Amino acid sequence: MKRFSIAVLPGDGIGPEIVHEATKILKSAAGRHGCELDLHEALVGGASIDAYGVPLKDSVLELTLKSDAVLLGAVGGPKWEGLDYSIRPERALLALRKELGLFANLRPAKIYRSLIDSSTLKPEVIDGVDIMVIRELTGGLYFGMPKGIEKLPDGTERGVNTMVYTTPEIERIARVGFEVARKRKKRLLSVDKANVLETTELWRKVVTRVGKDYPDVHLTHMYVDNCSMQLVRNPRQFDCIVTENTFGDILSDEAAMLTGSIGMLPSASLGATRNRAMYEPIHGSAPDIAGKGIANPIATILSVAMMFKYSFDMEEAASEIENAVEKVLDVGLRTSDIAAPGAKEVSCSEMGEAILRELDG
Ligand code: IPM
Ligand code: MG
Repeated sequence: MKRFSIAVLPGDGIGPEIVHEATKILKSAAGRHGCELDLHEALVGGASIDAYGVPLKDSVLELTLKSDAVLLGAVGGPKWEGLDYSIRPERALLALRKELGLFANLRPAKIYRSLIDSSTLKPEVIDGVDIMVIRELTGGLYFGMPKGIEKLPDGTERGVNTMVYTTPEIERIARVGFEVARKRKKRLLSVDKANVLETTELWRKVVTRVGKDYPDVHLTHMYVDNCSMQLVRNPRQFDCIVTENTFGDILSDEAAMLTGSIGMLPSASLGATRNRAMYEPIHGSAPDIAGKGIANPIATILSVAMMFKYSFDMEEAASEIENAVEKVLDVGLRTSDIAAPGAKEVSCSEMGEAILRELDG
């Protein structure tokens, strides 16, 4: 019998609501596949700041290091925006990524046929979109030193962040990119700004070199500004995109909107070993709708599917969850973010229950 321990970190805003629904799916899918779970819930982000004064307690970090996988909701909100950067809710997320070594962030943006009219783009442009963004997650501007804001003698201030990548950091994310591309259409697009930024000139050089080990994968390159334009112009040209941290943050939000709603997109953040993995929706804590019961739990539920696939090697359980989501959308159930004329608008928990029934049915 397989047995896994999972750290469940609901976080802030809509985090607790969506994680609550996703946890039901997690338990049900595990149960049906004869897999036992030990779930350990803990506070992170603003919720942890309110309770303990810090966004991530050492004991919670310990818990995630001991677990086979982490399920996270979302962190942050206006309540904590005035705090110093070093103790903001987002720090919890960044610290988890860094401490667990989660350098590879997979963000699939796939359009569901029944949601084609929910996108702000024309149906003929987005029909068939199926993109995997592979975002580097522990380097670049997010973590580079020096960083900070300093006072200058003339009374003005100077803000600094550093975009830095080393060869090994680029190599390992490039390898993930090629491996993922190999299992898809064998096409990998590396996105950089090599015409201006030296660090991404190195990026392009190293990705090209790693590509020699993957002669079966067709590698191309694109500048990030062009990529962002092409994503809305003709998104079907893309399959796998590998890119650095900040570009990946931006491009994955853009890719998400092609699919109708950012509330639909899951993610997996993976480290060097199997027991280093965190799953979370790519959207944030949506403080404006928190507590109203109208959040879309699908991104988190699909993140659970990714957990079965990447952490537990249980592809079948993963596809069952994905199919259940698709069925529920096909029969016209919609949370408000993906509402459509003629569809039935449901709450967060109604959506979760419907997917659960489909799964158990
Ligand atoms: C994301 C989010 C985070 C990021 C924030 C909340 C720190 O936008 O996961 O894309 O910038 O990485
Ligand atoms: Mg983001």
